[in-house]
Amino acid sequence: KSTTLSPLLKMYQDATEFYHHILLTTKAGEKGLTYAKNRDLNEDILNHFQIGYAPDNDQILLTFLKQQGYEDDLLQRSGLFVESKDGQLFDRFRDRLMFPLMNETGRTIAFSGRRISDDPEIAKYVNSPETEIFTKSKLLYHLSEAKKAVRDEGHLILYEGYMDVIAAYKAGIRSGVASMGTSLTSEQVYILRRITPNVIINYDGDNPGIHAAERAITLFNQVAGFNLGIVVLPDNLDPDEYVKKYGKEKYQNEVEGALAPTKFLLQRTALKYNLHNEREKLAYVNDAIALIASLNDPVASDIYINDLAKEANVTIESLKVSLLREQRKQR
Ligand code: UTP
Ligand code: MN
Ligand code: MN
Ligand code: MN
Ligand code: MN
Repeated sequence: KSTTLSPLLKMYQDATEFYHHILLTTKAGEKGLTYAKNRDLNEDILNHFQIGYAPDNDQILLTFLKQQGYEDDLLQRSGLFVESKDGQLFDRFRDRLMFPLMNETGRTIAFSGRRISDDPEIAKYVNSPETEIFTKSKLLYHLSEAKKAVRDEGHLILYEGYMDVIAAYKAGIRSGVASMGTSLTSEQVYILRRITPNVIINYDGDNPGIHAAERAITLFNQVAGFNLGIVVLPDNLDPDEYVKKYGKEKYQNEVEGALAPTKFLLQRTALKYNLHNEREKLAYVNDAIALIASLNDPVASDIYINDLAKEANVTIESLKVSLLREQRKQR
């Protein structure tokens, strides 16, 4: 199969196997393996995700790939190396746990390397630059595998990070993908839509994660036909930390309990106001009505209006009048 690959894809495949081999079977990989074990990455996981280790050596990949016969021009264009002023190449990834980033057909097109040390001065993750085979805005980590699980699991689950996809996998959820951080792109949204309308967003439970979920909902709403669920984890935990702390059953319950996007947004809105203060309560009700009106869904409106009436201790009738008024305004 490898002979049909373009030279750059072939190079990335060789690099993937090289880093993976170093991690699992060499002395140079021991440091990486210790880190991997500390993060509960067992051999099955390391194999499934083809995780590797780049030793603290700026020539090891270069030497290997040259031995394989790759030309300088291709090495330069690969993004695997940094170039000094006098044109010398050095391995880009050093002393990092290596996550291959694969395209939809499962070919490695880039890497992300996690620092092994806990030195906050060093970037936590270093990614390959964009190349002729890698466009960052289109990448969804683990998509080639996750899409095979959609039929069984009924959805894709969107995470921030690699370790979250991996934690979900350990918890028996194979349908996880990651957007490589919190800045989801519309390209990624279109790719997801092509695969399934059912997407569950499970970003980190910290403030950046929650705000990113709000932004993601807006982005998803620009494409018709999604059926979204939102998981918000407690105590600022990310999915990896949550699974570690509470176990897989509890985590699966969190996923089952995913909120409808409007419910999530209503909860977020309520947090902005002190509902014991009359003036703030009025402002909250107006914000909530605006959200419910934008749904254009009579049954869902009914449910949320009922909840809101109880919460704000006002009549359903008055809320319905406000809702109608707001719907005319939004049209
Ligand atoms: P997080 O900071 O939440 O990291 O960033 P994480 O996934 O929990 O990683 P661990 O558990 O500390 O190892 C979420 C994602 O954002 C991207 C990565 O894709 C990461 O998985 N990111 C983060 C970067 O690209 N660079 C960074 O320096 C940090
Ligand atoms: Mn985060
Ligand atoms: Mn906000
Ligand atoms: Mn995280
Ligand atoms: Mn994490």
